[in-house]
Amino acid sequence: MTNRSLLILAGDGIGPEVMAEVRRVVDWFGEKRGVAFEVSEDLVGGCAYEVHGAAISDATMEKAQSVDAVLLGAVGGPQWDGLDFSLKPERGLLRLRKEMDLFANLRPAQCFDALADGSSLKHEVIAGLDIMIVRELTGGMYFGEPRGVTDMNDGTRVGINTHRYTTNEIRRVTRVAFELAKKRGNRLCSMEKSNVMEAGLMWREEVEWVHENEFSDVELSHMLADAGGMQLVRWPKQFDVIVTDNLFGDMLSDVAAMLTGSLGMLPSASLGAPDPNTGRPKALYEPVHGSAPDIAGQGLANPLACILSFAMALRYSFDLGESADMLEKAVSGALAKGARTKDIAQGGAHLSTSEMGDAVLAELNAA
Ligand code: IPM
Ligand code: MG
Repeated sequence: MTNRSLLILAGDGIGPEVMAEVRRVVDWFGEKRGVAFEVSEDLVGGCAYEVHGAAISDATMEKAQSVDAVLLGAVGGPQWDGLDFSLKPERGLLRLRKEMDLFANLRPAQCFDALADGSSLKHEVIAGLDIMIVRELTGGMYFGEPRGVTDMNDGTRVGINTHRYTTNEIRRVTRVAFELAKKRGNRLCSMEKSNVMEAGLMWREEVEWVHENEFSDVELSHMLADAGGMQLVRWPKQFDVIVTDNLFGDMLSDVAAMLTGSLGMLPSASLGAPDPNTGRPKALYEPVHGSAPDIAGQGLANPLACILSFAMALRYSFDLGESADMLEKAVSGALAKGARTKDIAQGGAHLSTSEMGDAVLAELNAA
């Protein structure tokens, strides 16, 4: 018997390949460490559309709402590009985020020593890098109304998306970011465009409110999001925790990902409010990378972002910090011994997806 439930939604493209390696890691913890999970699997994205005519079915949504944690691979692919917006694979992911109310997206960007020469930036700029981007995930431009495209019947169209945030939405994600900062370097930088957006200025004011009233012991700074992007590539180590909105967070976290050498290395956790009974937040864990249809099915994908996402699940959903540390150490150990998938091999010899899984398991077994 176990009271730890996991729903695996491998999705499209390289999702199933990288998730197969995660599955081996999950099983390893059950067999070797007595940390067992009740695992179920289901469909999301284009593969769900093929079966159910929707990027996620209501039944899958219900399952996602009832488990302790969802592990997601990736969604999307060119064969579904022509679908109506409401049917696109990405809608499955967005529905999960919105209906589970996963408002805080944690995207750590850590540079593993072994990869410090693999970044497009100079070694000294990224060696030892360890920053955390907290991206608001259920509001802003992604969900704001009104939205859509209107035909003006004069040969032109108008496209509208709305950036909208409430006090509560800003304050709750800011609190998560401050809490994380307290456990790390005690510094938070908030990014917005308060120079051109009213809602950006309000974001800044609300972050300041939370700071003054609840977290005045944490150092707070503000940066315009464009300057923040520039500073991230100039000297990323100036940051500890960054908090920003949904759209800026999407962009800035891709920038941060590349600092670490490859998008294939970056995990993420999307968390809701803690459940009043169990204390566990609703949670979904996924790599930051996409479905990479160009390399899908070839055994070239890097499974480490997805494996590290499971490590985040151990830490944030199951309070298994030691197991999470162990898994993260196994990943850095494998890298230190030269294990490389193609994306991080810099043109040198590389392992297949499952060989990288082998390398991580070998480190776990040796631990
Ligand atoms: C991400 C992705 C998603 C997003 C897509 C797949 C909808 O880019 O998680 O960063 O834009 O949020
Ligand atoms: Mg993105």
